[in-house]
Amino acid sequence: MPLYRKTAAAIALVAFTVACHGGASAGATAGSSTMPPSTGPAMQAESMEQAGEYLTIVGSCNDCHTQGWVESKGKIPPADRFAGLNVGFRGEWGTSYGKNLRTITQRQSEDHWVEVLKTTDGGDGHPPMPWWNTAQMNERDLRAIYRYIKSLGPNPKGVPRSLPPGKEPTGPWIWVATKTGAL
Ligand code: HEC
Repeated sequence: MPLYRKTAAAIALVAFTVACHGGASAGATAGSSTMPPSTGPAMQAESMEQAGEYLTIVGSCNDCHTQGWVESKGKIPPADRFAGLNVGFRGEWGTSYGKNLRTITQRQSEDHWVEVLKTTDGGDGHPPMPWWNTAQMNERDLRAIYRYIKSLGPNPKGVPRSLPPGKEPTGPWIWVATKTGAL
């Protein structure tokens, strides 16, 4: 590696380390994995990332955000998790898709992530995302999930855009509606 590239890499590393230290003292930035104190019930583990992985499994997040999770009975390695689902959920709201959370955690701040999950995406969130459940999660748990998914790194897999009611999806979809009586 030429010297200037090495120097650039060293500078980048220092900048990253400084950013992490700044974040750790603020207690709200990805990069630190020690668990800050929490009030109320919350997941305890060796690191935020470990807590986050566990919470995503027991919180069923993979079911709708990881391709093949249900079909493989949960046997998808972490590197392939959370890149989104290309099967749409269709209902009177239109068609929604389990988004690529790998991309979202790279692009959005941890505070914004918490805000979205606490507020049904500012009131704009569609089913079947369990918004009412994530809104009640302990904030530290929401941060742990963010840090775990962010630690998996970017994954550029594309997920179809959500569609308004009446628009026909081009890919596969599931109809989410209540039926009564015999089929
Ligand atoms: C039953 C399916 C389902 C489950 C389970 C589920 N999600 Fe979702 N999720 C969705 C769908 C569909 C959307 C898109 C909603 C929309 O378009 O408004 C979504 C959107 C999101 C978003 C918003 C992304 C953005 O900023 O636009 C986040 C964050 C998220 N989910 C995290 C989670 C987490 C964390 C869990 C586990 C606790 C989880 N989801 C479980 C289906 C699901």
